[in-house]
Amino acid sequence: MTKGFKGSGVEQPAALHPDEIQRNLKTARLGKKIHYFSEIDSTNNYAYKLAQTGAAEGEVVIANGQMQGKGRLGRSWVSPPDVNVYLSVILRPKFAPVHAPQLTLMSGVALAETIQAFIPRAPEIKWPNDILVGGKKLAGILTEASCEDDRILFVVVGIGVNLNFPQELMPEAIKATATSILTLTNQPVDRLDFARRLIQGLDQCYGDLEERGFPAMASRWERFFSLRGKRVRVEGPGGSVLGKAVGIAGDGALILEDEKGVSQRVIAGDVFPMDT
Ligand code: BTN
Repeated sequence: MTKGFKGSGVEQPAALHPDEIQRNLKTARLGKKIHYFSEIDSTNNYAYKLAQTGAAEGEVVIANGQMQGKGRLGRSWVSPPDVNVYLSVILRPKFAPVHAPQLTLMSGVALAETIQAFIPRAPEIKWPNDILVGGKKLAGILTEASCEDDRILFVVVGIGVNLNFPQELMPEAIKATATSILTLTNQPVDRLDFARRLIQGLDQCYGDLEERGFPAMASRWERFFSLRGKRVRVEGPGGSVLGKAVGIAGDGALILEDEKGVSQRVIAGDVFPMDT
């Protein structure tokens, strides 16, 4: 069954029903239970509440559209119905809260590797978790954690990807800075197929992170890290920091090198390249 996105002429599956996502879903832990909404405020909000009331690791919340999609740093995430993927996954990792950012980076790897199969060029990861193609944002990750007594109770990993979002229908606020797979390839994406592959990718990366540890995941992440060796400015909660981006640390911090060659760690903020 297909349904067109109004005005786009694009045909895509009408819904992301759990049964259909679960058909042929090859995962060890993720997606055994999927909660679907045709419209919701935010899949992250719902997943967070579910986790607080005892939902199991691996439960997924997915929506056809969000009314109050949330982005990082208090921003909103434009979430029209019918065209994109908005999903949140509940994880209950056994490691200490200090390592929680590794889950964001692990999710970035899964997301970038999934996207790579749908577009003719490699996506770039802008630390910590923006997925860009040609400098424009294609997808984002919002990770929210609940911790107690130095242990992680749960982490919600929320992912939004612009799939069949026609450029001309994007709001002015993002039109010049965002892109979609439809824009990049001129081909509509099967959302079910994309969602299934993304859940599988997250499941595999989560297993790999547990089995092989962060260094192996960090080197996969760095393959998509477009700013390595570039001079950047990071706008963080404590002001701006300048330096050359050299990589990421074991706790997910961005490592910058200042003009004297001294390393600095950045744990939060937005990165802006200074070279063209
Ligand atoms: C960002 O780049 O600012 C992060 C965007 C994250 C958006 C996703 S869409 C699914 C999940 N639910 C939300 O409200 N936000 C995340």
